[in-house]
Amino acid sequence: MEYLQIEGGNRLRGEIRVSGMKNSALPVIFATVLIKDECIIENVPRVSDVFCALDILTSMGARVEWCEKHTVLIDTSWLCGEVKEYEKISKMRASSYLMGVLLARFDSVKIPMPGGCNFGGRPIEQHLKGFCLLGAECLENNGFVEICAKKHLKSTKITLDKISVGATINIVLASVLLDGVTTIDNCAIEPHVDDVICFLNRAGAKVIRKGRRIYCEGVSSLHGVKYRIFPDMIEALTYFTMLGATGGDITLTGVNYEHLSYSAIIFQSMGMCVDSYYDEVRLRAFDRLSGARVVTAPYPFFPTDLHPQFAAMLCFTKDGGEVREEIFPSRFAYISELERMGANITKSNNVARVLPSELYAASTYATDLRAGAALVVGALGASGQSTINNVNYIVRGYEDLTGKISSLGGKIKLLKGE
Ligand code: UD1
Repeated sequence: MEYLQIEGGNRLRGEIRVSGMKNSALPVIFATVLIKDECIIENVPRVSDVFCALDILTSMGARVEWCEKHTVLIDTSWLCGEVKEYEKISKMRASSYLMGVLLARFDSVKIPMPGGCNFGGRPIEQHLKGFCLLGAECLENNGFVEICAKKHLKSTKITLDKISVGATINIVLASVLLDGVTTIDNCAIEPHVDDVICFLNRAGAKVIRKGRRIYCEGVSSLHGVKYRIFPDMIEALTYFTMLGATGGDITLTGVNYEHLSYSAIIFQSMGMCVDSYYDEVRLRAFDRLSGARVVTAPYPFFPTDLHPQFAAMLCFTKDGGEVREEIFPSRFAYISELERMGANITKSNNVARVLPSELYAASTYATDLRAGAALVVGALGASGQSTINNVNYIVRGYEDLTGKISSLGGKIKLLKGE
């Protein structure tokens, strides 16, 4: 088993390039199922969830070729509608997008219930509500979900009861090839939703998002396309939290600052200098930051995927602070792991209250992707040599974490244990 060894207490300095966004690369990869032609996707992050998604499509008959380090060609012309790789599907939340695309292409789909990170139940009733309103029949049975079109699916009006990234994207995927206009109200507006819409439109779809409403005018077919994935806002913001923990002067290149701006203002209010210029952002922090209180909420507000890393960073601030979690109420497993390093965090209902503390080295375990990233933030700021086990969670979503942190002067190694 691999583990990370981090010698903390070094200021970060230098420049790194932010990778493509995992949470839009995954639905774009699955969206190629709707296109019986070659698609070339650029800026694809080399993370294990992406490899897993490509393996799932390959096992169903897709042709997948890496043309360059971050460019992949996918041709699903000869895809069969039967899924294999049950284990991979059940471990990855984004495999839920197979529901929308297989329903659209083959009129029916049966997959294991999609899994994902370990922070509580991840219901899919909003996805199923959308498919049912389009005219499908949905059954959940023995850990599988089965969806089939009763007759032909029909465009309709759908209002989500809850803002959901996954349900929004899945309903768009299921409706791009239907006759007529499907509207989705109360949709998610995360950049990954727009990334998927841009991809589909470049392939010939007619999808428009206006605020929290999407109009999806069906087209008869989609064509091959060359498309570049948006930069990963959560990866970029994770490096903000690392800098907040260590201090220093770093530049992130290849970013879209608009996606970061709500959170960037919070870091600025804490005392970090944040300067953006075209697709770069320079971050400087020399004194301890002051504290902050944040509340997670759907985009454009503070992202739940930054909660654990931000809480870890608060340990190193002058005043501490709190994170109120409004999206995933059980996303607090990182607390007990940070406590091994001496963090002083108390949880009350859905709020983590963080007091400033001197963190020291410890042996810790990542419990999910972002909780793992929080331990990296903690270990970089702590004194001494920490280890982080269960690295498999972290490599699901952070490309070349050790290479990037090392190039910023952080002391980090990926080592093999027994
Ligand atoms: C995606 C991201 C995840 C991110 C989350 C919120 C991927 C692969 N994952 O997850 O990293 O944390 O968006 O930005 O892109 N909900 C329901 N019923 C549903 C669907 C969702 O109650 O049918 C609830 C969820 O439990 C959660 C909230 O809605 O409380 C938001 O979930 P959603 O936006 O769907 O998250 P995911 O798409 O699973």
